[in-house]
Amino acid sequence: MFHAQVLTLFPEFFDSPLACSIPKRAIEAGIVAVDAIQIRDFATDRHSKVDDSPYGGGPGMLMKPGPVVAAIREARQRQPGTHVVMLTPSGSRFTQAKALEYTEKSSITLLCGRYEGFDERICDYVDEEISLGDYVLSGGEPAALCVLDSVIRLLPEVLGSPESAVLDSFSEEGILDWPHYTRPEEFEGKRVPDVLLSGNHAKIEQWRKSQAASRSRQRDVKGKGHDE
Ligand code: ADE
Repeated sequence: MFHAQVLTLFPEFFDSPLACSIPKRAIEAGIVAVDAIQIRDFATDRHSKVDDSPYGGGPGMLMKPGPVVAAIREARQRQPGTHVVMLTPSGSRFTQAKALEYTEKSSITLLCGRYEGFDERICDYVDEEISLGDYVLSGGEPAALCVLDSVIRLLPEVLGSPESAVLDSFSEEGILDWPHYTRPEEFEGKRVPDVLLSGNHAKIEQWRKSQAASRSRQRDVKGKGHDE
């Protein structure tokens, strides 16, 4: 079984997304287990303080190293060999390739911060720093949820059809997916491309590949799978 742990001040954040759809089925089938560890449980002072103001001044609060590092140690003890990932906008960009890489591990631990970020020294206790993109979320939780979801759906036996994970966007050399159509044949004057109704499978495949390639060019998927 694949084990995921989230280190967070808001364990309830994950409850309803993991109780729906593919993650729900994967958990029920015993393919994945997701455990939350409450960082505040590792605070040592009377007020269970987990944040403090930055040295040198400036706005906002930072996660203190003490409780966070104690929570990381607990996570490593619960799942020896777990890969600890800090979610932070200053990390390296999360990609489909990363999601696939994580499925090869026995366990990942996702560290979510609140406030303006983490005390820099916490970075020495994690294996990797990951960002979802160049924007700032109110905390690491939404980012951790995206990482979890993208990893869970790639675990062997999670998706009904093993082909769908292989065929979707990004899986093939970073090329975006082709356009899809379902019934009706015409919707508000917009017709399904004739080639898809032709029954000519070679032509359909050719059309899909060329559509995917031109989409990748247009949307500037970095560097892969298409001519510059
Ligand atoms: N925490 C806040 N913003 C984030 C982002 N863009 N990616 C990952 N973690 C974050």
